[in-house]
Order: sequence, then C-alpha cells, then structure tokens
Amino acid sequence: MDFEAFFKSELGGLHEEGRYRVFADLERQQGQFPRATRYTEAGSHDVTVWCSNDYLGMGQNPSVIAAMKEAIDHCGAGAGGTRNISGTNHYHVLLEQELADLHGKESALIFTSGYISNWATLGTLGQKIPGLIIFSDALNHASMIEGIRYGRCEKVIWKHNDLKDLEAKLAAADPKAPKLIAFESVYSMDGDIAPIKEICDLADRFGAMTYLDEVHAVGMYGPRGGGVAEREGLMDRLTIIEGTLGKAFGVMGGYIAASNALCDFIRSFASGFIFTTALPPSLAAGAIASIRHLKSSQLERFAHQERVRRLRSMLDASGIPHMPNPSHIVPVMVGDAAKCKWISDILLDNFNIYVQPINYPTVPKKTERLRITPTPLHSDADLEHLVGALHQLWSRCALARAVA
Ligand SMILES: Cc1ncc(COP(=O)(O)O)c(C=O)c1O
Repeated sequence: MDFEAFFKSELGGLHEEGRYRVFADLERQQGQFPRATRYTEAGSHDVTVWCSNDYLGMGQNPSVIAAMKEAIDHCGAGAGGTRNISGTNHYHVLLEQELADLHGKESALIFTSGYISNWATLGTLGQKIPGLIIFSDALNHASMIEGIRYGRCEKVIWKHNDLKDLEAKLAAADPKAPKLIAFESVYSMDGDIAPIKEICDLADRFGAMTYLDEVHAVGMYGPRGGGVAEREGLMDRLTIIEGTLGKAFGVMGGYIAASNALCDFIRSFASGFIFTTALPPSLAAGAIASIRHLKSSQLERFAHQERVRRLRSMLDASGIPHMPNPSHIVPVMVGDAAKCKWISDILLDNFNIYVQPINYPTVPKKTERLRITPTPLHSDADLEHLVGALHQLWSRCALARAVA
C-alpha cells in the first residue's frame, strides 16, 4: 500500500468537505488574558481570544501560578512514574482530597485529562460489571462514547435530555440487569443543561447508577464551584461526578468523585489510570490552588455571569442570532459551513478577534456557529469591538438577523 498517498487522499476528503482543521498559532500572554500573540507567516500580532475554555481566567490567576512555581522549585518537573510505581506525589493526594470535598464524596481519583477520566471509568465499569447496560445521552462527549465502546457492554442511546425516552428505554430493559445512566450537565456546543433531578429520580426507580460529566460546569456553578449538581443540591444523588481541571480551573487533568469503593475499584482496574505517568506535581499544586480559590471566591463566577448577560443583550440589540440557553456558552448561529469559516477568518485577520468556527461533525450541518465564551476578563471595550465586528460582517455576508 502507498501509505503516503492514502494519508493525503483522506486529508483531501476533509479539505473538500470543509472539515480540515487549521490551528491558530497562539502564545498566551501571562497577566493579559484574554490577549494572546498570534503567529503567522507574515509575522505576529495581538488577538483577543473569545473561544477559550479557561472560562474564568484561572490559568492566569496569581495564586495558581505561584503554587505551580513553588511546586516546581520544591519537587522538580515531572512526577517520575505511574501512580503505582513512584509517581504518587503528595500534591496528588491533597488534590484528590480537595476534589472529594468539592463534590461531597468519600473519594476522588485524578487522571491525565477529562477525556481519559471518562474513557477509563466508563470503559472499566462496562468491562467489569457483568451484564451492565449503559444508557447514554445522544449528545454525550466523544470521550464518553469511546469509553462506552471500549467497555464492550450493552449500550442504549436515549434522545438528548428527553426524560420520556429515557424512561421508556429503562422500562424496556431487563429489570434484573445492572444499569448506569451517563450524561452531562452543561452540553458544550448548545449550552443547554440536563434535568439532573429528574434523571436521578428515574435512576432511583430503575435501580441505576448515575454518571454525570460536569466538565463545563465545575468551578462555575454552585456556591463553591461544585457544578450544576451542587447548585441544585443534587450531588449526593449522583453515583459518579466527573470533571476536568483544564477548563474553569485553568490547569490540566481530569477526575472522578464517588464512593471509596468505586474510586478504589477504578484505581485498581482501569488501564487508563494505571499504565500512564502521573500528572506533574506542579499541575496538581496549581489545581489545588485554583479549586481552593473558587471554593471561597464568588467574584469570578458573578463577574462571568454578568459578562455573559451583557454579551447576549448586546447581540440582541444588534440582531445577531444566538442560541438561547441557561449557561455561559453563547453560540452565535451562522448555519453555513463556508460562511462560518469566512467570518472567523475575517474576524482574526481584520479585527484581531479569535473565535474558532464550529462546523460539522462537531455540530449538525446547517447549525454551524461561532461558539463564544466570554470571561470575567473581557472588558466593555472588548465586547463592543466583538459585537461591532459581527454587526459589520452580518451585513457583508447577507446573513439573517434575529427578529426582536
Ligand atoms: C463534555 C466533555 N467531557 C470531557 C471533555 C474532556 O475534558 P479534557 O479537555 O479535560 O480532556 C470535554 C472536552 O472538551 C468535554 O467537552
């Protein structure tokens, strides 16, 4: 086989479908978030980032940076091994305690990313619990889908956030089979939020475990940043809460929080946990500082919510269509892949605004969008610049405006 020709022809297919991904070459500027330097063949220039998942700017928080520097001075760069073979650093132990406390659970277990925490946990449960059926929301993240696939257990997909469909599917399954319902709180592309309480009620009725991905909610909702389940007083009703350290907490890594026995089970059987180098101690130290900060400070959350409201009202005033939802994610709808990419390119090249276009297959065709994530560090001037630029482009691109 001509491997090179094969790779090139597959890539050609992506180009033809307009799905080839081009990375923006950025250098984040410490202390200047959301500003970054963009490198191009023609040189470099400053841009304002409008699509970061460092939702609260904690990646630049002085206490987080100080904790990471101190840990490097104290412990050096890497963990030096897997968790089992010399890689468990005291910072990991403290971080797991901090996370268990955040979610009101007996234990927590950290992984190298949120992706791996979903993949390893769901996969291990699927493989090890005899006859397990996983009921998975249709819009679950790729890491959950891959984990369930790797678990090789029976899988039932229920319509997104549709309680009637979930109920019907639970009722149709073997009453004796062990069951797990896997879903997210804030869905990252539409920004809608799952009916967590009602799903837990169904889980109780059918004797199912619950697995909630709070990746887009931890740090941001609830009085201590425990996520939507904390805000709604539901954390104790979830068997497993999964989260990331890489978005609102501003660092990197993933975790689950659950009972002692469940975390110990995953720790002992999940290959994605066992056979990989532990997180650098500095990352764990930064995550601890970030979680502690957001447990006691409401400032970032309040300022963030205010910025989201302000952006939405400015978009409304300009007639720029955006998907209404109860979260912090502002999907500005374009509905055409080529126009979406074109708008994003012009914003970057002519207005120094960086918003990545979101096209199929991440979202369905005809719902192509700019996924905008305001942060507490976007100023009024930043908002005016963004909405002014969108206003101009909407006219140039002959895109439909929202009717007030
Ligand atoms: C819903 C959801 N779960 C899990 C992940 C993976 O988290 P991480 O980026 O920490 O790997 C993502 C990443 O975007 C996500 O959107």
